Amino acid sequence: MIKRSRIVGCGSYLPEKVVTNDDLARTIDTTHEWIVTRTGIHQRHVAAEGEKTSDLAINACRRALAHAEKKIEDIDFIICATTTPDQTFPATATTIQAALGMSHGFAFDIQAVCSGFVYALTVANNFITTGQARRGLVIGAETMSRLLDWEDRSTAILFGDGAGAVVLEAIDGNGTLEDQGILHTLLHSDGQLNEILHMTGGPGSTKCVGSMVMNGREVFRHAIEKLGGAIEEMLTHFNLTEDNIDWFIPHQANERIIDALAKRFTFAPEKVVKTISQHANTSAASIPLALDAVVQKGCLKKGELVLLDALGGGLTWGSALIRW
Ligand code: UT7
Repeated sequence: MIKRSRIVGCGSYLPEKVVTNDDLARTIDTTHEWIVTRTGIHQRHVAAEGEKTSDLAINACRRALAHAEKKIEDIDFIICATTTPDQTFPATATTIQAALGMSHGFAFDIQAVCSGFVYALTVANNFITTGQARRGLVIGAETMSRLLDWEDRSTAILFGDGAGAVVLEAIDGNGTLEDQGILHTLLHSDGQLNEILHMTGGPGSTKCVGSMVMNGREVFRHAIEKLGGAIEEMLTHFNLTEDNIDWFIPHQANERIIDALAKRFTFAPEKVVKTISQHANTSAASIPLALDAVVQKGCLKKGELVLLDALGGGLTWGSALIRW
């Protein structure tokens, strides 16, 4: 008998305000057609003035707790993956902790940009499977709109705001592929590649946020290669084939990246979860938002195999295999 962790509740939250491609085309030199053709994005949600990353996360957490039928007293820890914390410190996770009325346990943030949720899930899984904690909230929450230069058409069109959360809980397993819960996660990073996607500032260097610099073509090339590599590594680890995967839930950065991966691994379109057209790239929030979209529709069935796959600045990337 070994300890596993499984997702027992999901929730997400999107800010009310929707910005369409046509809205953007009114202020920058772009078109709806260019954005849809190159990225698959039709619209994005944008936080209202004063609406912070923690506000989005708190709403997502309340929904995840309700879905799991758990109270905050049942939770031992909160991990929030975010690139857009409310403040330089304290961690946004502690702001969420306070708002949820929790002063026991522990809470901290993880920064792995768009891979943040897979990193957070890995750390949370390790706390639970080593017996250090029984139940936790794992969050991906972002207000990417705050980082953007809204005049830079190469990045402004890509991102959106939102939050997703899951309740992760200990469960007994046999240590086999048939177990329910997180079966395996794998993480990678290559700091040599941080130049191709980074912010020009930060509290420890310029004392300000800076602006986003992205070599889109290079990131695109590495995304296909590394996301594909992570899938292959996961399948090989368990001696599985792509046919064994019931749901593929990738980071939502560009529909062309998702389609290229689906084609390479011959994932049928109905197995591939895509929310990019409505949410755009919400960084660490994209996978839990996509997961919640299919969970709330009642699509995921007990026993199905779910593969998560993410890549972001750093570069960081990773995947997780979950038996639902
Ligand atoms: O989540 C983190 C990971 N991030 C990603 O995975 C992003 C990966 N990269 C991408 O998704 C794509 O590279 C982009 C969507 C960012 C760009 O698409 P692309 O097909 O690589 O376009 P490009 O950068 O090669 O630009 C093609 C042309 C350029 O014009 P010229 O030089 O060919 O005349 C750009 O100036 O498109 C132009 N362009 C635009 N035109 C209209 C760039 N942005 C825009 C725009 N509207 N918004």
